[in-house]
Amino acid sequence: MHWASVLIVAGLCGVTLGQYEDEDMLWFQYLRRQSSSYNYGPYYEDEIPSYSYYVPAGSSVGEPVPEPPEPPVSRECPQECDCPPNFSTALYCDSRNLGYLPFVPSRMKYAYFQSNKITSIQEAAFDNATSLEWLALHSNQITSDKMGKRVFAKLKNLERLYLDHNNLTKMPNPLPRSLRELHLAYNQISKIPSNVLEGLENLTALYLNHNQLNEIGTALRGLKSLILIDLSYNNLRRVPDGLPGSLEQLYLEHNYVYSIPDDYFKVSPKLLYIRLSHNSLTNDGLSSNTFNTSSILELDLSYNRLQKIPRVSTNLENLYLQGNQINEFSISSFCTVVDVMNFSKLQVLRLDGNVIHRNAMPPDAPLCLRRAAVIEI
Ligand SMILES: *[C@@H]1O[C@H](CO)[C@@H](O)[C@H](O)[C@H]1NC(C)=O
Ligand SMILES: *[C@@H]1O[C@H](CO)[C@@H](O)[C@H](O)[C@H]1NC(C)=O
Ligand SMILES: *[C@@H]1O[C@H](CO)[C@@H](O)[C@H](O)[C@H]1NC(C)=O
Ligand SMILES: *[C@@H]1O[C@H](CO)[C@@H](O)[C@H](O)[C@H]1NC(C)=O
Ligand SMILES: *[C@@H]1O[C@H](CO)[C@@H](O)[C@H](O)[C@H]1NC(C)=O
Ligand SMILES: *[C@@H]1O[C@H](CO)[C@@H](O)[C@H](O)[C@H]1NC(C)=O
Repeated sequence: MHWASVLIVAGLCGVTLGQYEDEDMLWFQYLRRQSSSYNYGPYYEDEIPSYSYYVPAGSSVGEPVPEPPEPPVSRECPQECDCPPNFSTALYCDSRNLGYLPFVPSRMKYAYFQSNKITSIQEAAFDNATSLEWLALHSNQITSDKMGKRVFAKLKNLERLYLDHNNLTKMPNPLPRSLRELHLAYNQISKIPSNVLEGLENLTALYLNHNQLNEIGTALRGLKSLILIDLSYNNLRRVPDGLPGSLEQLYLEHNYVYSIPDDYFKVSPKLLYIRLSHNSLTNDGLSSNTFNTSSILELDLSYNRLQKIPRVSTNLENLYLQGNQINEFSISSFCTVVDVMNFSKLQVLRLDGNVIHRNAMPPDAPLCLRRAAVIEI
């Protein structure tokens, strides 16, 4: 079919929502809004420089005597790197063609090594750097076999670890339990051993997109703070066994998922966004109420092999189904009861690139889909 049309449902307001491509932006903004501390860059708040008082000559006797100055802060800095004098806990060693990891002085909380040519991490690399909270090692060529076995385990305060865009073939293991964000995208990791994420009780965001994962198994169980997981662009045929109850954003697009177990999303009552586009889903691989979960606001099932519109909750606001093989417009997928009080909150529905006919919209559709601003067939 070469035609696509936008039907503005009669009697509805003319709000035009952005095109599909803009949704990436919305998701992104959502994440930023969720926790502004996702901003990339060091904190400065706790970096108040110590002060010494100048007492002018002739000031009256009886003024409090100034405290003796603090012992000087260590200024030790690897010669390859920059250590800004006004920010004594940050080490900047990024983008300077380094082939090895310089020594990290023990006062450092933030260390930036990204965009170099580092291939290995020696066992003792961070022995003295146990205050590290942020460690940026992305965009290097680190391989798993040249990474010391316990390099990260001793970093008891590490909250953010950036290892994306490297040459890792295995998950780093063990990982510090203090982690809040783990960035491993754009590597060649093929599996997640079931114990590697165990005890990461504060992990909120896990990025494993653009790897070669075949299976996740039960590895996500017990991540009781996880809000976002990105598993897109992998080789997954099955969804992970068990999602965390805290999860809000699940990204699984560009995999080979063909089925989803019954009641799969019921264990995650906070789920808001599900991306499953470019997979191999068929209606036979879904149970009748797989996606009928009241928390979900946005569901992307585009570019799969669906022949029918799956049943969804009346709370759903955005549904993307373009590029499937859907051949009927079943209003019962949205509303089981249609009357003045019962209707769908759907705002955007995309059905273009299916085998559905424009006239297929049933006459009672506007009553059920009364909030819809854009329906594309
Ligand atoms: C530290 O100094 C540099 C330049 O000397 C300045 O650009 C930067 O804003 C300063 N940072 C803080 C936190 O004062
Ligand atoms: C580690 O720190 C201690 C004291 O903070 C220092 O004496 C020692 O030389 C450091 N180790 C390395 C490898 O620099
Ligand atoms: C890392 O991967 C890149 C791209 O595949 C490759 O060019 C490079 O040689 C690899 N480096 C190492 C150390 O394996
Ligand atoms: C998780 O975060 C809480 C609150 O910030 C902290 O008290 C706790 O020690 C952290 N857990 C781990 C394992 O670091
Ligand atoms: C979704 O599930 C609810 C019960 O949880 C049910 O009342 C409703 O009819 C279902 N929606 C559809 C479209 O089947
Ligand atoms: C329809 O609306 C009525 C009144 O709000 C409500 O009691 C009933 O549960 C709704 N039925 C369904 C299937 O949502």
